[in-house]
Amino acid sequence: MKIAHVVGARPNFMKVAPMLEAIERHNGRPGQEGIQSLLVHTGQHYDYAMSQSFFDELGLPRPDINLEVGSGSHAVQTAKIMTAFEEVVLRERPDLVLVVGDVNSTMACAITAKKLQTAVAHVEAGLRSGDMSMPEEVNRKVTDAIADYCFTTDRIADANLGVEGVPNDRIFFVGNVMIDTLLTHLERARRSTILQTLSLRDGDQPRSYAVVTLHRPSNVDDPRALREICEALKTAARRLPIIFPCHPRTRERLEAFELVSMITDGNITMTAPLGYLDFLQLNAHATMILTDSGGIQEEATILGVPCLTLRENTERPITITQGTNRLVGNRKEIILAGIEWARRQAGQRISRPEKWDGKAAERIVEVLAGLARSGALRSGGDRQAIRQSVG
Ligand code: UD1
Repeated sequence: MKIAHVVGARPNFMKVAPMLEAIERHNGRPGQEGIQSLLVHTGQHYDYAMSQSFFDELGLPRPDINLEVGSGSHAVQTAKIMTAFEEVVLRERPDLVLVVGDVNSTMACAITAKKLQTAVAHVEAGLRSGDMSMPEEVNRKVTDAIADYCFTTDRIADANLGVEGVPNDRIFFVGNVMIDTLLTHLERARRSTILQTLSLRDGDQPRSYAVVTLHRPSNVDDPRALREICEALKTAARRLPIIFPCHPRTRERLEAFELVSMITDGNITMTAPLGYLDFLQLNAHATMILTDSGGIQEEATILGVPCLTLRENTERPITITQGTNRLVGNRKEIILAGIEWARRQAGQRISRPEKWDGKAAERIVEVLAGLARSGALRSGGDRQAIRQSVG
């Protein structure tokens, strides 16, 4: 079986790394039919800090193919990916195209593969914010509507897919591959010197500090929303130092809206985007995290760090019901009230969502190997039996 794994943007790299490792382990077991992996990078993210640094730190192999599409409007970026990826599928003839997450590369490659009669697997399927103004929500819904195999992180996602009419035998609840990567690298991250570099240690003890990340169009492309968030950060920083690794899109907007001086004047440290290990170490010791990212809500839950999500909704509600997450939107007063809430959460016990145990990629490979053995990948055969066999 030949699988084309698609990566494009920063949050994809940590999801594909455990897949490739689980496939290596599978191939090393006696008596198994080998799985061949082809790694395709669309080039949606292209800066060292947004892409290559993750390959280096996560031990990802060099992509076999880089489509080098770069930035552009949604239509331009999606069209460029589809045009280039079509050639790849025609030339390489994979048995399955595996896409992860919800970025433009995910949807573009899923559509392209499906129209070439190639099976599509979607890892992290079924997440729904209910907010169709988010480009990612469109990507999620389109991808799941056409995917042959939907691998989910929780039961809520299974239910979401059911409501949209995805048949049960296409849905596989396997856990969270991004958490596989976090658990694998937590120990290595402890060797990062980021806390010293940013003067966040008091002798042996980490100081109190908050980590902020922002990049959603709804927060950073609207000058009023971005100004309001900056005002909240400026007020909060009087009592709590803030580390703000800044996404390129956000830096561009802060400069364009002349907000940089507001947040660099004081207790806020803006840095370039950080590598995976530094960022993990920084988050692991933070007093709280303020973010509009999807994945960081999940990482905060596993790290047990209170997380304030600067959005009105989340496609990951399990991080609220079972984790450390709370929605605060982008209004100054509500963010500040959230910060007070987060201060009171220190030391609270949290529970780990079911199957967020570092074995999600193993489960996916088990399913795919079972599908290949049964011939179901080509014929669409008896998936139900394989689904039951992985529990
Ligand atoms: C994309 C994803 C988003 C994900 C985020 C993580 C979509 C629709 N959005 O958003 O879901 O959470 O990645 O970062 O796919 N840029 C650079 N260097 C890079 C990449 C981007 O400078 O390596 C700048 C460019 O100015 C670009 C802007 O960032 O125009 C936005 O990049 P883009 O890939 O369009 O979307 P993100 O906002 O990064």
